[in-house]
Amino acid sequence: MLSTLRTLAPPRGVNILPILSRSLTTSTPSQPRDRARKEGDISSVFASLSGAEATPLPPRFAAIKTALISSHEPQIQASWSRLLSTLRTEVENIASVGSQIVPEIDYAQIHNHSRVQPFANGLKKRGVAIIRGVVPASVALGWKEEIREYIRNNPHTKAFPQDKPAVYELYWSPGQVKARAHPDMLEAQRFLMSFWHSESPSAEISTEHAVSYADRVRIRQPGDAGFALGAHVDGGSVERWEPEGYGLGGVYDEIFTGKWEEFDPWESSCRLPVESDLYNGAGACSMFRMFQGWLAMSNTGPGEGTLLVNPLFKLATSYFLLRPFFSPKNPNVEASGYLDEENWQLDPIQSSTLQGATLGCAQELTNALHPHLDLARTMTHIPQVQPGDYVAWHCDSIHAVDKIHAGNGDSSVLYIPACPLTEVNARYLARQREAFLEGTPGPDFPGGKGESEHVGRLGREDVRSAGGVEGEKAMGLSPWVGQGEFVKKMNEVAGL
Ligand SMILES: [Fe+2]
Repeated sequence: MLSTLRTLAPPRGVNILPILSRSLTTSTPSQPRDRARKEGDISSVFASLSGAEATPLPPRFAAIKTALISSHEPQIQASWSRLLSTLRTEVENIASVGSQIVPEIDYAQIHNHSRVQPFANGLKKRGVAIIRGVVPASVALGWKEEIREYIRNNPHTKAFPQDKPAVYELYWSPGQVKARAHPDMLEAQRFLMSFWHSESPSAEISTEHAVSYADRVRIRQPGDAGFALGAHVDGGSVERWEPEGYGLGGVYDEIFTGKWEEFDPWESSCRLPVESDLYNGAGACSMFRMFQGWLAMSNTGPGEGTLLVNPLFKLATSYFLLRPFFSPKNPNVEASGYLDEENWQLDPIQSSTLQGATLGCAQELTNALHPHLDLARTMTHIPQVQPGDYVAWHCDSIHAVDKIHAGNGDSSVLYIPACPLTEVNARYLARQREAFLEGTPGPDFPGGKGESEHVGRLGREDVRSAGGVEGEKAMGLSPWVGQGEFVKKMNEVAGL
């Protein structure tokens, strides 16, 4: 898949030099949270989509890998064998069930315990879910029409690909602002976040307070092959192995000590200290998103320019994190037994290679680099969606977008993740609020004047009319209410 993606030329107008020069010159991590992004578009997120060749990682990554597994190499080797065996079974299971493996629930049933229980079991195992009918189809379609009108009134709006737009560089269009503030959208986010838990009672996090992350909008036309995202995981790449990245919270400690079965993807307190963007990645998210997600604005089925997810979830996370420590004894992929446990051994001396990880880019996954995931059979289309359905996937989930939109209608979504209230998120919210008021992209996104000169851009008062004071709180426009120290501190951090 990587080779296919690499054949894509850099999109017109996309300057890949900043990505390349960062990859070549950066040898130590820096603190990027308050730095401005360069102008660009969504292609900057992926080494392959930007046209950049994979660049060897600095030698210090060999030392990082060696330190991670030091003194428990036998446990790592044994856990790898168990993982490959478990994967073999689950790959077959997923391939035979197909899209129906994605759990779903009607929005009207999210407080019905007998419906929630099986849904929760599916979500926790698969890391992805659909909530049907969070808003009526007519409302979602109305938002799409408002966005289209906004684009018509502002023909200089940036998009990718620029000549046949699929993903617009829009953050503050009427439909986006209204959807983020909508009370049922916020309730759906709180519902999903309730399936996370915190081991530490003193952890400063609240899933009761959903906060908004202003992302883009996709209106993909039939036949489009430009917006083809291969299998990837957002939230950084090399950072997952780095002590100054996810290591700050020990998020994957169980995996790196040979106990991947004990890894709990739903424990939140370990994620609070994480630095997931050490290289100022053009597409990095510096908020803590428990789920990425989108609200459908079209009737779209598998193959029609939509999302694929990998329901292996925790097994896949364990695999792509352990993969760089191992090599095949016989590297001939055509040989029988290539995938067998007996053919794979822990490298006696670790290299700096982290398969699919490039500084400043998302983690990419390919058949060649991650053969045991059998991506061709396990990347699973989400089922048909209707306007108003909300699709969400865990922040560790591998996902992709159809290479070609083979349907007849537009495939359109509003990207709306589910984010809890934390100190990091409150700080981001303060900066995002300023961007909103100025009409520029949020702090994580490619900079420039954005929509500051757009006609018909919504403002502060529109958030209140769309979502009341709760909608304002989610955007950091009104203070959170409560007696506790946590709420007081968050208001201070967000400048409220
Ligand atoms: Fe993504």
